[in-house]
Amino acid sequence: MPSRRHFIQRSAALLALAASPWMPSLASVDPNQLLKRRIPSSGERIPAIGLGTSRTFDVSLADDSLKPLDGVMRTFINGGATLIDTAPSYGNSEAVTGTLLKRTNTHEKAFLATKISATGRTRGMAQVEASLRALQTDTLDLVQVHNLQDTRTQLALLRELKAQGKVRYIGITHYLESAHDDLLEVLAHEQLDFVQLNYSVVERNAEKRLLPYCADHGIATLVNRPFLRGQLLSHVKGKPLPSWAIETDANTWAQLLLKFILANPAVTVVIPATSNPRYMADNLRAGIGRLPDAALREKIAQAFR
Ligand SMILES: NC(=O)c1ccc[n+]([C@@H]2O[C@H](COP(=O)([O-])OP(=O)(O)OC[C@H]3O[C@@H](n4cnc5c(N)ncnc54)[C@H](OP(=O)(O)O)[C@@H]3O)[C@@H](O)[C@H]2O)c1
Repeated sequence: MPSRRHFIQRSAALLALAASPWMPSLASVDPNQLLKRRIPSSGERIPAIGLGTSRTFDVSLADDSLKPLDGVMRTFINGGATLIDTAPSYGNSEAVTGTLLKRTNTHEKAFLATKISATGRTRGMAQVEASLRALQTDTLDLVQVHNLQDTRTQLALLRELKAQGKVRYIGITHYLESAHDDLLEVLAHEQLDFVQLNYSVVERNAEKRLLPYCADHGIATLVNRPFLRGQLLSHVKGKPLPSWAIETDANTWAQLLLKFILANPAVTVVIPATSNPRYMADNLRAGIGRLPDAALREKIAQAFR
């Protein structure tokens, strides 16, 4: 029989736990369970949870700044994920990614996606060469024309680099719904492997034409801004998770938001950004277990109105 004193101590401990801010567990994620999706142009299967690096990886290369990101990288790779999305315009993010992959000796496990944001062939080429140096690699898995800047010139360059084996896949990106028609216009004229687009519970325009077009034409998709730069998670901070969340095997709001996106079969990889290893583990768990059906997806969207 537990004593009365033991009971009081235990109750006090539980109360203290309930009062402290809840943090997702850092417990490791089984890499074999992570959802994978097919890249249509090659048939290669790729883990559906990726990692964005805008702002979060733009830190100095000093040990103190790299420490939490080292934890993010190890959690990401040990959890079986591979695709890291970066860009020359993300400050130090490419160099930080390259340094962390070298430190953790995991270059060969990563799928490196970067971008070109330059005008003219010479500047585009110089940017790709700088990306190769910063990422400490001889080949890039994916290079995307960033925000449709000088698209035709840069896609012509990327096709040459693909033919030379320097780049494995090519694509285009944008982060605004107002650019979805422009993305579709490029897709109508160019054969691409990937399109990166914005899509979340509050930005659902991609469901109408862009995602169905990619599914019908065999184009892989990367989804950016899944948390609207974190704003969606601030909106529900401290709010208990609805009881129906269990039907999707989600136990955090972040997992619900990512599962909403992954439930669309036209989505290949979603790329949330984080500088926190616990959030990284949390996000990976969205790639495990059931996904919401149409009715549950609407309930998730409702929770953010
Ligand atoms: N035009 C383009 O090509 C384009 C444009 C926009 C974005 N992107 C790509 O898409 C990536 C993602 O978009 P984003 O960086 O704008 O924003 P996002 O992924 O929607 O949100 C990132 C924010 O969410 C927070 N967060 C992440 N996981 C969390 C969790 N489990 N629980 C609580 N908070 C969490 C992070 O906080 P902490 O910082 O505290 O970890 C971070 O501030 C970018 O990094 C970039 O690679 C591309």
